[in-house]
Amino acid sequence: MEELRIAVLASGRGSNFQAVQDEIESGKIRARIVLLVSDKKNAPAIERAKLRGIETMYLNPAEFPDREAYDAAIASALRKRQVGLVLLAGFMRVVTAGLIRPFRNKIMNIHPALLPAFPGLHGQRDAVKYGVKISGCTVHFVDEGVDTGPIIIQAAVPAYDNDTEDTLSARILKCEHKIYPKAVKLFAEGRIEVDGRKVVIKKQKKREDDALISVA
Ligand code: GRF
Repeated sequence: MEELRIAVLASGRGSNFQAVQDEIESGKIRARIVLLVSDKKNAPAIERAKLRGIETMYLNPAEFPDREAYDAAIASALRKRQVGLVLLAGFMRVVTAGLIRPFRNKIMNIHPALLPAFPGLHGQRDAVKYGVKISGCTVHFVDEGVDTGPIIIQAAVPAYDNDTEDTLSARILKCEHKIYPKAVKLFAEGRIEVDGRKVVIKKQKKREDDALISVA
């Protein structure tokens, strides 16, 4: 199988981007992040990417007539680089059909709540306000809705009575850094199948040499 080429779209800190890149560098995921796109000129994510020798691209939304045009520019940059998987990692824009259509079931997002609970910008704050006892994070494919696409992996964390948005966010973030790389690894290994709303994770294929041993 050819090496998977990944693009990351990020607006901020970039810790999820780094979690994925770390797993790639350690050889656990067979893939390469070839581009990091940001809508924020000074996003720390850009710096993190530069430090790792990854190409970065700042696209200023103000320079495009509308969201569709902005997303079309991203899509074209991704096509040029033969990107096979797009990761939204704290990308603070709703992506439109111009990007979703050409990359159907090839765009993942990480959301800091157990979807379909608490979609939108403030997953952790909304969970604390609601008084839930369990929250967590979700990796899902991106469709035309806000945080509505097929769910790939979820992980749960407890929510405590004295939690603030910050304490719950920190607990969730640790989980995000585990499940996002895991989802990317599954994708890179060709083990993710989408059947309507459902994502089915295929069992790992036995390595050929294992098979030989069991025949011998
Ligand atoms: C994360 O909490 C993620 O769930 C949300 O935005 C935040 C991004 O954090 N979508 P980082 O930029 O990856 O550190």
